[in-house]
Amino acid sequence: MDAIEFLKVDHAHVRDLVGRMTASTAEQLDLRHQLFELLRQELEIHTRIEEHLLYPVIERQGSHEQEQVRDSLEEHQEMRDRLAQLAKIDPSDQHWKQSLIEFNEVLEHHLSDEEEDLFPRARREIGSELEQMGGRMYQEKGDRLREYSLR
Ligand SMILES: [Fe+2]
Ligand SMILES: [Fe+2]
Repeated sequence: MDAIEFLKVDHAHVRDLVGRMTASTAEQLDLRHQLFELLRQELEIHTRIEEHLLYPVIERQGSHEQEQVRDSLEEHQEMRDRLAQLAKIDPSDQHWKQSLIEFNEVLEHHLSDEEEDLFPRARREIGSELEQMGGRMYQEKGDRLREYSLR
């Protein structure tokens, strides 16, 4: 699996978690807590991996790419902020779902940007590096998941 395929699997996983959260009811408190924790963990690992392994290589391709990476980093931060806001709301509260919807708008905008623009660009510009990068991503994800399980 190359780096782009790897990241797209993560995207599908994140979307699935948000979909399950959206479909949950205010009575399913444990489920909401559980899904939230999985989402936070998955997204944290995913964004760190992009920031460590993909973005620095993209950034080196030129000034347009530099700008694109800058925007992406801002969006990562915004997703983290929105998720932190969601964490403060009790899942039984009626505002929880609204906050989830707002988070999802930022998330979806970012994921589609990557899938429609950044990833195809990466394939064009650094295609030959993606296979090896995929291996490093797989390894880093494993390491980070182990860290989480030891917490
Ligand atoms: Fe990203
Ligand atoms: Fe991503």
